[in-house]
Amino acid sequence: MAGTFSARLVEWQRHHGRNTLPWQGTRDPYRVWLSEIMLQQTQVTTVLAYYERFVQRFPDVATLAAATLDDVLALWSGLGYYSRARNLHRCAQVVMQQHGGRFPTGSAELTKLPGIGRSTAAAIAAFCFGERVAILDGNVKRVLTRVLGFGADLAVARHERELWAQATRLLPERDIERYTQALMDLGATLCSARSPSCPQCPVRADCVAARTDTPQHYPVKSRKLKRGVREHVWLWLCWRDRVWLVQRPDSGVWAGLWSLPEFASVAAVEAASAGWQGRGEWLASFTHTLTHLDWTLHPLRWTLPARLGAVRRGAIECAWPSGRWFTLDEALAAGLPAPLRKLLTLAGAAED
Ligand code: ADE
Repeated sequence: MAGTFSARLVEWQRHHGRNTLPWQGTRDPYRVWLSEIMLQQTQVTTVLAYYERFVQRFPDVATLAAATLDDVLALWSGLGYYSRARNLHRCAQVVMQQHGGRFPTGSAELTKLPGIGRSTAAAIAAFCFGERVAILDGNVKRVLTRVLGFGADLAVARHERELWAQATRLLPERDIERYTQALMDLGATLCSARSPSCPQCPVRADCVAARTDTPQHYPVKSRKLKRGVREHVWLWLCWRDRVWLVQRPDSGVWAGLWSLPEFASVAAVEAASAGWQGRGEWLASFTHTLTHLDWTLHPLRWTLPARLGAVRRGAIECAWPSGRWFTLDEALAAGLPAPLRKLLTLAGAAED
């Protein structure tokens, strides 16, 4: 049974899977690793442009390790989940310092590196070194729980371990690379979460959920995300052609990115700006959706007089020791949260 299941998948991948992506057709662990990290929470179509820019700028692990975190974050800007970029940079440095610039060749060793979990390690080891080892990312969990009719709650660690064991049991003897890619491709296309295309599926005969017409019952995961809400004022300080940006702390949302000064309330920003010259203008508020959080931001653009002297400017700037003035071009080249990039671009364009 395992043989026929994997053989069907492999055959399907050959004809219907994705075989021409820029990180395929190579066994270079640097490129495969980079693509797997980018693909963790981002769709292939989005990753394509980022991946190309990234490998042009950082063609190998040594170049990436030698870069500044700011440069890495700037190229990552817009991909989201910035801890991935921070771990990527750290991982490159660990590979240089502790592994002589070469990625370890086994999944167990790869798992010890920053940002590489069990499934990502397995994908790299399968694609680059042909290791016979199971992957189990979110898409593959959906495929396998449906095929197996695995209805146990994956929020329970024991059940998740059991699914890993089943995934390992299903592995083929040969063609591990194509089989691994097949599971990913099936999960990203036919075996979608909301409307799976069971009639086109190469393993529908093996699949409990297809046979019983219950794909929506899988996977079972009980723990619900409890979403939070948050609200802030974003202060967009303008002086001449510049914007004042502050570097966000090393932890929390958008860690390390450049952003606008934040205030907890309208009253707080009014108190802070009470003695300032120039004028403020409220721009349209918007809500940015993060994994755990709906964050409503109210941008206040405050334009300081062009002739404002260094002393008066300094009295304002000293509230943010990590801040500095950026021209719009410099700001857009820095690591910015996606909604700030949009705000600066849209509002900047509206003035032209
Ligand atoms: N998602 C994660 N890794 C992938 C890959 N190598 N190809 C397509 N989708 C993926």
